[in-house]
Amino acid sequence: MEAAAPYGEGAWPLRSADLPLTDPLSWGERLDGSMMRTAARPPTLAESAQVAPLEARSSDIRVAVVGCGYWGRNHVRNYAELGALAGLVDNHEENVARLVAAHGGRGMTFDEVLDDPTITAVVCATPPGRNFALGKRALAAGKHLFLEKPLTLSVAEAEELCVLAERQDRRLMVGHILLYHPAFLKLLEIVREGQLGPIQFILSNRLNFGKIAREEDALWSLAPHDLSMILALVGGDPVCVSATGSAFVNPSIADLATMQLAFPRGERAQIFVSWLHPYKEHKLVVVGTEAMAVFDDGLSWDRKLLVYPQKVAWHGDIPFAQSAEALAVAVEPREPLKEQCRHFLDCIRTGARPRTDGREGVRVLRVLEKASHSMAAAATRIAGLGAVPAKRCCA
Ligand SMILES: NC(=O)c1ccc[n+]([C@@H]2O[C@H](COP(=O)([O-])OP(=O)(O)OC[C@H]3O[C@@H](n4cnc5c(N)ncnc54)[C@H](O)[C@@H]3O)[C@@H](O)[C@H]2O)c1
Repeated sequence: MEAAAPYGEGAWPLRSADLPLTDPLSWGERLDGSMMRTAARPPTLAESAQVAPLEARSSDIRVAVVGCGYWGRNHVRNYAELGALAGLVDNHEENVARLVAAHGGRGMTFDEVLDDPTITAVVCATPPGRNFALGKRALAAGKHLFLEKPLTLSVAEAEELCVLAERQDRRLMVGHILLYHPAFLKLLEIVREGQLGPIQFILSNRLNFGKIAREEDALWSLAPHDLSMILALVGGDPVCVSATGSAFVNPSIADLATMQLAFPRGERAQIFVSWLHPYKEHKLVVVGTEAMAVFDDGLSWDRKLLVYPQKVAWHGDIPFAQSAEALAVAVEPREPLKEQCRHFLDCIRTGARPRTDGREGVRVLRVLEKASHSMAAAATRIAGLGAVPAKRCCA
């Protein structure tokens, strides 16, 4: 366990404009179909007016997407739908040609993007080892910059990008997409209103038999999502971080990892990530003193966010579990990636600080670096016991 950065450093404020347009108290339907509380209210005219002009004006910002592979093609589609797609860059021409035919824009080289003064922003969905070099050149050329997670592969590189973006007065944003997910934002709202009571424990699982990264381990590839959610929910940074991991496919890259976090006010959290798992599970559990909540992204929108109004009650000095039925929370279905793309455009336009800006990315990387040190130390300990070579049990 190692000491982390000071509590609360770089915490982003959640303005009311960031929240979904639903009534925080409208928990909707019980799992048995009966109703509780009120239905979500529709947005007021004033709220609608705040949202509507955004897309209409979006074409004033021209975006180049760099990296048009598995995930980058979703950025291409969304920026096209928002009227902002200008350029597409990829080492594989066939990727670009197919996407240009489907969504418009034009194939370019990265140098052409940097030299084109009409291109306002660069979005990188390349393997994360490219983020630092590409991002540095984009910022130096005066572009606003979005980088897919993890922001970079070290805190030092990420801090350098933050300083450059600040010096250039350009927006730097990282793809912590779950902070744009309507169900997570609703959960955050519920937590901040104190409806669960003080948080005691958070569990976040991100499991799949999925894409196997070759540059970064499962912790750096998958856990940025869990960490960004946990740091937002707790509202600060951990004081203790420990982790273990196991490598089976590639000898030095952990395919699965667990991380434990302890926070200054006593909250605890655990993350379990793996791409070597028989089924997909993206599930976040929050246990508070007054109620518990589950955000399960694998379920349909009407079941993605459940609140269990159950808690530990006491008979004298004897604790007992006061259980209660799960309540489904009403959430407005919206594509998280589109919300994220729209937020990036909006921040460029208004000069606002992105919800997941470079500094938020650095906070996540600081925890990942501590976790990696902890994993390496655990590997050395296990190897010392003569079980398996260090590189095979932890990365
Ligand atoms: N937010 C999410 O939910 C999510 C999901 C998946 C992936 N990602 C992130 O997106 C990024 C890309 O992942 P992916 O799965 O799409 O990878 P990928 O390998 O499928 O695609 C990467 C693309 O980048 C191109 N590329 C590589 N170097 C380049 C360069 N220097 N210039 C131009 N193009 C280059 C490759 O040709 C490839 O088409 C990663 O950072 C990953 O972590 C995010």
